[in-house]
Amino acid sequence: MNTSTLITGRILTFNASPFDGAPEDAVTWHEALRIDSGRITAVGSRADLVPVGAATIDYGAHVICAGFVDCHVHYPQTAMIASWGKRLIDWLNTYTFPEEMRFADPAYAQKIAARHLDLALSMGTTTVASYCTIHPGSVDAIFAAAEARGMAIVAGKTCMDRNAPEGLRDTAQSAHDDSKLLLDRWHGRGRARYAITPRFSPTSTPEQLEALGALWAAHPDALMQTHLSEQTDEIAWVKSLYPQARDYLDTYEAHGLLGARGIYGHAIHMELRELDRLAEIGASVAHCPTSNTFIGSGLCDVTGLMGRGVTVGLATDTGGGSSFSMLRTMAAAYEVAQLRGTALHPAHLMWLATEGAARSLHMVDDIGTLAPGSAADLVVLDLASTPAIAQREAEADTIWEALFPTIMMGDDRAIADVWVAGTRRGAS
Ligand code: GUN
Ligand code: ZN
Repeated sequence: MNTSTLITGRILTFNASPFDGAPEDAVTWHEALRIDSGRITAVGSRADLVPVGAATIDYGAHVICAGFVDCHVHYPQTAMIASWGKRLIDWLNTYTFPEEMRFADPAYAQKIAARHLDLALSMGTTTVASYCTIHPGSVDAIFAAAEARGMAIVAGKTCMDRNAPEGLRDTAQSAHDDSKLLLDRWHGRGRARYAITPRFSPTSTPEQLEALGALWAAHPDALMQTHLSEQTDEIAWVKSLYPQARDYLDTYEAHGLLGARGIYGHAIHMELRELDRLAEIGASVAHCPTSNTFIGSGLCDVTGLMGRGVTVGLATDTGGGSSFSMLRTMAAAYEVAQLRGTALHPAHLMWLATEGAARSLHMVDDIGTLAPGSAADLVVLDLASTPAIAQREAEADTIWEALFPTIMMGDDRAIADVWVAGTRRGAS
């Protein structure tokens, strides 16, 4: 059976990180991309990739890039996104914890997992790294939903043994044992990867952090995801709960939870030692700009982090984030950087939403790029998806000027098509 497909359009690939030199020089535009058995086998000119019995799909002037990778979401918060009027700790207690309680019911977890991934796909997001709830059933639900859709996914049981309501607490031992069971069940099964997931230091005792650190040491190829330095009163709380710690990051480091395969969400209000340590270790930061403005957390210094050698990926952080769309999230990253005095180039934004996020998850061999060998996870962008965007795009002199209005003003209407592992999912 011939499973070759040739896709033509304006194909955006990176030959380097746009943060390492002139951003435009990091991008190579191609005309054609070939898929064989779900994987990209070549990119190049139409003439180079003459179809040998391959079906050809021509996307004309649409831009084709790697499917978006959202490296920090809370799928259980899907149904309470855009909850009004609170900052982090109140927001957790008022909206988040009551909603997460509902995931004790596996049927509810399955319903929201399916809803979340379908919403993600409709926005052009082909991989998410998701927190679940303390309930093991919530973890099975998202992994099974991703498997059914052929999606690469990262997920893990959120662990909390204090400062959370009755019904949403585990223990150091049960967090370790349940996480281990789920890790053994899902990590490396098809496109699934497990992330050991202590929610954040305030909701774990030192004993729980220690137990999860030991689990990570026993499974060093697993990922680890948590939150770091999101709001200033959160940091003060961490200092009071962990009086021995040098800083917030040290609460993780002291318990075996600082490592290269760690993804630390937010990292806004950072001390110098923390920045240097993240860079030295090769750990990653998930930048969540819609969340940081929505919950009033602050303005993350993305270029400062990158400049110090910290890997940064872009993320929605739904439902603290106010959108499922990585286009909207790129727009917010642009605005946050502007407020810090830096204008991110569209190439920076596209990289953070694809390769940067994939690198932060250590999955760049499979997702986040269009390099031959990668899974054919693609998003096809219509650069004239609404009258407002189309009239601006019509004035553009360069491809970057044509793409930027879609980044700033686009939503799911700009997603002309999505491919997952070589299978066409169609527009939403
Ligand atoms: N810190 C601890 N838990 C959460 C969460 O669910 N969302 C956000 N934005 N920050 C957190
Ligand atoms: Zn989060």
